[in-house]
Amino acid sequence: MADGCGPLDQRRALLSAAQGLNACGLNQGTAGNLSLRIPGGLLITPSSLPYEQMGPEDLVAIDPQGRPLADSATTTGRAPSSEWRLHADILARRPEIAAVVHCHSVHATALACHGRGIPPFHYMVVQAGGPDIRCAGYATFGSQELSDLAVAALRERRACLLAHHGQVTLGSSLEQALALAVEVETLAQMYLQALQLGEPPLLSGEEMEEVAEQMQRRHYGAFSDPAAPPGQSPDLPR
Ligand code: 13P
Repeated sequence: MADGCGPLDQRRALLSAAQGLNACGLNQGTAGNLSLRIPGGLLITPSSLPYEQMGPEDLVAIDPQGRPLADSATTTGRAPSSEWRLHADILARRPEIAAVVHCHSVHATALACHGRGIPPFHYMVVQAGGPDIRCAGYATFGSQELSDLAVAALRERRACLLAHHGQVTLGSSLEQALALAVEVETLAQMYLQALQLGEPPLLSGEEMEEVAEQMQRRHYGAFSDPAAPPGQSPDLPR
């Protein structure tokens, strides 16, 4: 899957990522939404249309205020995802980010229903940019309040959970954002499993910082992404 250069390539890449999300079990039905930065705004999945029924022409090109962008490939007049504000606000505040993935993956959402994020119980948490993955507070889907809460939870991070809702991941490409969504779901499943025996011991700030440095040195996973935060993240506790 490549991000492509032209409008149609970008549409095909976004559609393939959206369908891939369902195919790998991270999402279902019409839940979730994905976006890709394009000149003048973003390309986003339409609202309330099952991914398997979606064609490239159903994707919606909008400006950062949610207004339709003139785009010859938009032919179906679909409404953009109800979460367009969240996508547009993230892309506006994070110039290093090109793609945003939101899904209702089961284990991440189960944790988020308890308002819990993912602490440094496992070293791979660093893949999301710091020693933890925060859970943003609850707000109604599609609201400006939800977007504001998510943007705050994503400070110095490329992933967060949304209380009673799901998860959001960011990447400098669709591939990176999708890979991180899989990682977040896997970590959430591991954490829920570890919690069966009680709250697991956590890695220290120093240990997590060493992991970040090691990953950065090795260009490991998300750290091969130019959008990945530096190993010496100011958020890493010392
Ligand atoms: P849309 O179909 O409008 O994208 O909504 C799905 C969703 O997950 C809302 O958070």
